[in-house]
Amino acid sequence: MAISAPIAVLDSGLGGLTVVKALRREMPHEDILYFGDTARVPYGSKSGVTVTGYVRQIIQYLKGFGPKHIVIACNTATALSMSTLRAEFKELSISGVIEPGAKAAAAAAGSKRFPVIGVIATEATIRSKAYEYALARRRHHARLLFRPTPLLVPIIEEGRGEEDPLVVLAVQQYLNPMIKNGLDALLLGCTHYPMIKGLIARIVGPDVAVIDSADQCAEDVYRRLLSGGLLRGDSTRPGRMHCFVTDETPRFGMLAQRFLGVEMLSPTWVSPEELYRSSDEGFSLYKG
Ligand code: DGL
Repeated sequence: MAISAPIAVLDSGLGGLTVVKALRREMPHEDILYFGDTARVPYGSKSGVTVTGYVRQIIQYLKGFGPKHIVIACNTATALSMSTLRAEFKELSISGVIEPGAKAAAAAAGSKRFPVIGVIATEATIRSKAYEYALARRRHHARLLFRPTPLLVPIIEEGRGEEDPLVVLAVQQYLNPMIKNGLDALLLGCTHYPMIKGLIARIVGPDVAVIDSADQCAEDVYRRLLSGGLLRGDSTRPGRMHCFVTDETPRFGMLAQRFLGVEMLSPTWVSPEELYRSSDEGFSLYKG
């Protein structure tokens, strides 16, 4: 595998750009391909069979670009499909967001014998129990609290920020029962929640460690590339980025900029037909 190959990142939509932002901070010289399944978002209310089918098509498509690593940046997709697809695509290096997030939350819960760890995520992620297994494996004495928070993705996608009264109310309503149980750590188990991390941290208070799965995922990818000798360390040029989407709506520019922190230049639209077809020949974005 070539060091110069890109890292491919996929998500149900544009929320995974929070992971790309963290990856670019951690590894500024890497080329990144981002695939946002904007036509079929949200995944968080869908079944495992459906989401696994979508992610399978995207991985098959991204495989054509010869990526050195594939990141499933979507918590729901990681929870519902990663083990199946890792077994199907044995030749590819694939990681997700659940294990790194759970590892960090388990550590951040401190030295208490019976810490309380909360997780907020989409309905499908909570239902899958993926975080439950990942946390219980690491801290089996911990008290684990789970809360699906389905309203947060649409209100964040609407462009509402941390000061918006509707966002404040929703976060308070969702978190108050957890706070009453004496949280030690709260894991943000969804791509969108880093956008309101400041508000969440204010609401849970300074004694609760708030863990952002995007940051943890980026650190995990860094370690994987480093140990595999695949890190593009001392390159003199900044990493390039290219984005693929299955639908481009008028909201695209606003959302992409909010999640990524910088303007996103002209994404490539991938039609469903193109996504379905096998990408055996491979694609090339950059010459030389
Ligand atoms: N990307 C999803 C996640 O992290 C949130 C949006 C969706 O439901 O597709 O779980």
